[in-house]
Amino acid sequence: MSQAATKSLRVYFSSSIGKKQIMAVTGLALCGFLVSHLLGNLLILVGADAFNFYAYKLTSNNLIYVAEAGLAFIFLLHLFLALNLTLQNKMARQDGYYMKKRTGRGATLASSTMPYTGFVILVFLILHLIQFKFGPVYSTVVDGVEMRDLYRTVIEYFAAPLNLTWYIFAMTVMAFHVGHGFSSTFQSLGFNHPKYTPTIKKLGLAYSLVVALGFAGISLFCFFQN
Ligand code: HEM
Repeated sequence: MSQAATKSLRVYFSSSIGKKQIMAVTGLALCGFLVSHLLGNLLILVGADAFNFYAYKLTSNNLIYVAEAGLAFIFLLHLFLALNLTLQNKMARQDGYYMKKRTGRGATLASSTMPYTGFVILVFLILHLIQFKFGPVYSTVVDGVEMRDLYRTVIEYFAAPLNLTWYIFAMTVMAFHVGHGFSSTFQSLGFNHPKYTPTIKKLGLAYSLVVALGFAGISLFCFFQN
């Protein structure tokens, strides 16, 4: 790569708009992960063998390590840029500069609380991985193959009403975050059109409702299996 190209890439990555665009693309990729995770988790409704077999097939493929590393990278980049832009906005406001305000005209509850809802999702995710991925390990046999009984780990977790309440709370918070994130993604990428923006906002709302209600519904289903 030429020196000029390297320089313009560096300028792009350190500019506010560059960071916002990378946040938009990584946010959209995380939205894609959520849909695939939700679809996989829906197998819990089918039964223990279906869910365990699906998780087994997924984790026994070596490509899972590449996918997990990619997901972790995208998530950490999204988080790092969110922190960076939030601090940058705060400092600029303290300096008396005008930066796009998160409050005031045009701001919604979802847009003004993005850093807080993002923080709740971070806490949720850390606990989620501890509880499930690195949680209690049981084993089961499906079609003569021994595998991890993740279904039991999940169902046991949701036996406690407090755990169910936490998930429903976290899913509500997530709906606010991804609902606003989804539509602002298009704005950050420069796609702002009076004719299409209202439709994109509605799509964001629909997406957040489907994902949040889907995960909350699965949690409720697990609770009632106990
Ligand atoms: C009812 C709700 C949910 C259930 C039952 C559930 C279930 C699970 C289970 C069982 C695993 C472990 C998979 C394995 O080790 O093979 C897992 C991993 C994971 N979950 Fe969830 N999940 C739920 C919601 C969510 C939400 C809302 C998010 C994101 C905000 C999320 C993000 C993740 C991530 C990033 C992993 C690690 C994936 C990997 O390492 O491959 N989950 N989930």
